Amino acid sequence: MSVDPRTLGWLSRALTHEMAAVQQYLAQSVLARLWGDYALSSQLRREAVEELQHAERLMERLIVLGIAPSAGNLPPARLGRTVDEMLAADRVLEVDAVRLYEQAVSHAERMRDADCAALLKGILAEEIAHVRELDGMRQGQHHG
Ligand SMILES: [Fe+2]
Ligand SMILES: [Fe+2]
Repeated sequence: MSVDPRTLGWLSRALTHEMAAVQQYLAQSVLARLWGDYALSSQLRREAVEELQHAERLMERLIVLGIAPSAGNLPPARLGRTVDEMLAADRVLEVDAVRLYEQAVSHAERMRDADCAALLKGILAEEIAHVRELDGMRQGQHHG
């Protein structure tokens, strides 16, 4: 099966993003636990698992295409010194994800790659939900 190299590029960039997101949420979950904020720690751990599932779906697509998954270098996790800083860093991460998946979806659609477009659109919808979820968490921090 011949695969469009630019589509593979988008799948690889998306995988790198997801692995970086797993690293960031998991590291923040550990930090929140060390602060003694167990509710925040488990919420961040659940986010890490959702990002891991995104990585899994991308890996499945790559493997079906005959490509061994290979994430690029991961940027360091942005921890923050306060809960506010932590959630602000996560919002940056999620907004980057939305931008990445929007571009990846339009590439897949231009290539008329329906399977890939459907996968990327599904993840895009979840990244948009993550941005909204973080906005809710940040509001909760300010009012609770
Ligand atoms: Fe994700
Ligand atoms: Fe996300």
